[in-house]
Amino acid sequence: MGKNKLEKFADMRAYPHVFEYPYSVVDNVPFEMKGHWGRDFFKNDNPIVLELGCGRGEYTVGLARRYPDKNFIGVDIKGARMWTGATEAYREGLANVAFLRTNIEIIERFFATGEVSEIWLTFSDPQMKKATKRLTSTYFMERYRKFLVDGGLVHVKTDSNFMFTYTRYMLEHNHLPVEFLTDDLYHSGLVDDILGIRTYYEQQWLDRGLTIKYVKFRLPQDGALQEPDIEIELDDYRSYNRSKRSGLQTSK
Ligand SMILES: C[S@@+](CC[C@H](N)C(=O)[O-])C[C@H]1O[C@@H](n2cnc3c(N)ncnc32)[C@H](O)[C@@H]1O
Repeated sequence: MGKNKLEKFADMRAYPHVFEYPYSVVDNVPFEMKGHWGRDFFKNDNPIVLELGCGRGEYTVGLARRYPDKNFIGVDIKGARMWTGATEAYREGLANVAFLRTNIEIIERFFATGEVSEIWLTFSDPQMKKATKRLTSTYFMERYRKFLVDGGLVHVKTDSNFMFTYTRYMLEHNHLPVEFLTDDLYHSGLVDDILGIRTYYEQQWLDRGLTIKYVKFRLPQDGALQEPDIEIELDDYRSYNRSKRSGLQTSK
């Protein structure tokens, strides 16, 4: 039988590669590993890659298996979800994986200038009502700039037409260099071993017949960022109430 939430939380507290610092904690305890993840935890100087809103951490663990010469940190606020990836990494003895349970709004408290080389945003909530909550908003881009190397890569994989369209406008408006962009990843010829990693949410959306969108861009340090002033059509499938969303279990 699977573990219940309390048992998962107990595992998380015991895992040496899991750091739990939600708002309530980090306000009282400074995060001393900021700037020292390589020296104090990974014990090497390899590049650090973040998966923000990692859920079960499919990208964190999947990339770590494929790239032993890079370090991967999955970030999410939901411990019971993160437990899945944290447990896989622990059982496999993956030394290049960590998980950070915190609010992404305070992510810059955990990483120093230039400490991170790449960011993955996997099926982030589109946050259609409020731009400042969107993980691809200029509000978050300014936060990422505080620790991402100059011109560091950002990958966005999403089912959401709203999120994808918004991100495209944000990139265009700020002249951020786009490396790849497709509104139908699985028919683009782009899918490879990495882009083919499927997350839990991704599989749910694919099962419902939605196409997957992907954009990879660079985030330079110079130039002020401006929020695009645009109206975007909402994703109608997201305004369904929970009982109508058959087959999509969003509460796990
Ligand atoms: C739609 S789920 C996607 C999870 C996973 N990446 C996947 O594709 O299956 C979005 C995840 O982002 C996390 N999340 C959203 N906003 C967050 C925030 N501000 N701080 C921390 N986690 C956040 C949620 O807890 C959730 O696990």
